[in-house]
Amino acid sequence: MKIQNSVALVTGANRGIGRALVQELLASGAKRVYATARDIRTLKDLLETDGDRVKAVQLDITDRHQVAQVACNLRDVNLLINNAGVLSGVGVLNGPVEHMVQEMDTNHLGTLNMVRHFAGVIEENGGGAVVNLLTIIALASMPGFGAYSASKAAAWSMTQSIRAELKARNIEVYGVFPGAVDTDMIKDVQMPKTSPDEVAKAILAGVEAGTEDIFPDPMSQQLYEQWRRDHKAVERLLGAM
Ligand SMILES: NC(=O)c1ccc[n+]([C@@H]2O[C@H](COP(=O)([O-])OP(=O)(O)OC[C@H]3O[C@@H](n4cnc5c(N)ncnc54)[C@H](OP(=O)(O)O)[C@@H]3O)[C@@H](O)[C@H]2O)c1
Repeated sequence: MKIQNSVALVTGANRGIGRALVQELLASGAKRVYATARDIRTLKDLLETDGDRVKAVQLDITDRHQVAQVACNLRDVNLLINNAGVLSGVGVLNGPVEHMVQEMDTNHLGTLNMVRHFAGVIEENGGGAVVNLLTIIALASMPGFGAYSASKAAAWSMTQSIRAELKARNIEVYGVFPGAVDTDMIKDVQMPKTSPDEVAKAILAGVEAGTEDIFPDPMSQQLYEQWRRDHKAVERLLGAM
């Protein structure tokens, strides 16, 4: 799909990868970008960059009523970028269940909720694309982040389902599997990280190229190659981290 002249909606646009995606969409010629966030005040800076093309919208993706309302109001969207996500950093055996519920509600069901409401909008506009931010640790679990991995693995499976179902409605579906990205989400994790700007550029390049599974940074590309050769070796590697 071409980014030029697209009408995009980005969830969790106020910081991290979401914010970088809004800037990259503007640089790539998007006609309009709906930058959405739970707290609309956090979008002030983005609005100042291009008030004509950026529209701020309040949106919590776990609020089904609000998602339905926003989809009713924004009838021109043809590129939905499901970026919003949470990471609690708990394992599945002993982590608080509330954290696991929040991760599943946001990363899987919140993302699905967006797709269910916007698929009809995109179809009415002649087709377009859905982009779901997953993670490289959806392919194999990192036990310290086990609950997060499980929620993103569910979102990956859902991404495959909707790809098959939405094809006939002229909607392309992309899954993005980043490695470590330098945002608030993993600010306390010490390891080499890629900048959100580079990741955003690679995501949009993948969408333009029609690459269904996008590995937007060196860590994810390397782990994916290893996983293709020997997925059990990657399971053991991440399992020991
Ligand atoms: N950073 C990484 O290393 C990495 C690696 C792989 C995948 N990812 C994925 O990439 C995406 C972006 O992550 P990031 O690194 O940019 O994280 P981040 O800096 O922590 O930003 C997360 C964004 O999601 C928003 N959000 C969380 N729950 C939400 C909800 N219920 N409704 C609407 N927005 C919500 C946050 O809003 P508030 O400001 O209101 O909290 C924030 O804007 C996520 O899906 C993440 O899982 C990140």
